[in-house]
Amino acid sequence: MMNNTKENELIPDYSTAIEVRNLTKTYINGSEILTVLNSVNFTLKRGSSVVIMGKSGCGKSTFLHMVGGLDSVDSGTIFAAGRRIDSLNSDKLTQFRKNHIGFIFQMHYLLEDFTALENLIVTSMIHGSQKRDAKESALSLMKDVGLLNKINNYPGQLSGGERQRAAIARALINDPDIILADEPTGNLDEENSRIIEDLLFGLVKKYQKSLILVTHDSYISKLANETLILQKGVFKGQV
Ligand SMILES: Nc1ncnc2c1ncn2[C@@H]1O[C@H](COP(=O)(O)OP(=O)(O)OP(=O)(O)O)[C@@H](O)[C@H]1O
Ligand SMILES: [Mg+2]
Repeated sequence: MMNNTKENELIPDYSTAIEVRNLTKTYINGSEILTVLNSVNFTLKRGSSVVIMGKSGCGKSTFLHMVGGLDSVDSGTIFAAGRRIDSLNSDKLTQFRKNHIGFIFQMHYLLEDFTALENLIVTSMIHGSQKRDAKESALSLMKDVGLLNKINNYPGQLSGGERQRAAIARALINDPDIILADEPTGNLDEENSRIIEDLLFGLVKKYQKSLILVTHDSYISKLANETLILQKGVFKGQV
């Protein structure tokens, strides 16, 4: 029987993209204590996709931020992309995010002063690519998301759906192991949502990424390997 410390150091095998054990997160607002995640367990296999649903305020974004190294944990263990990340300092977490995670949010967060293509090139160069390689990858991804005819448009000159396509391309540009998407179609109409969802799942499959996607849209759960509902601080498999 292993003791706890040793067990915590055990790194899950190569087939695991994310492994979360007994993750707890509590917020304190004045005298109120809110336990958002209550000893949560979760596994994402490499190359697979999990959709997370649940009522507004149940902690979906909180969970995603923690597995992506954007927020600290109270207790519990998170393994992601082959390393333990819950105990990393902020410099190492930044490095971890840069190398392994692609985020897509409800808001596109594209840089307004750069064209769609430049947004990808800049991101790639921040990740250490040479300009020529960055441009080549950016163009290839713009093709993937069907935006080759809009590469010189600034974000303000793109439609909402086009901006999210550019955001998907940007999330993929550093070739991350894991894509974390938080309501990427939350601001889009139904038709555009479908297009974006099909595109995202298609690219995740093509490039063999592991995906966690948070959504209120039940259509997406049909595309994913697994759907989980976050409720009262724990995950429940969808019935
Ligand atoms: N920094 C914070 N300080 C205090 N409370 C917070 C903080 N961040 C989130 N919360 C609270 O934690 C709970 C979970 O928030 P979270 O954003 O994870 O919900 P969500 O499931 O993503 O909701 P939505 O579907 O509306 O995006 C909410 O009640 C929220 O008010
Ligand atoms: Mg949220």
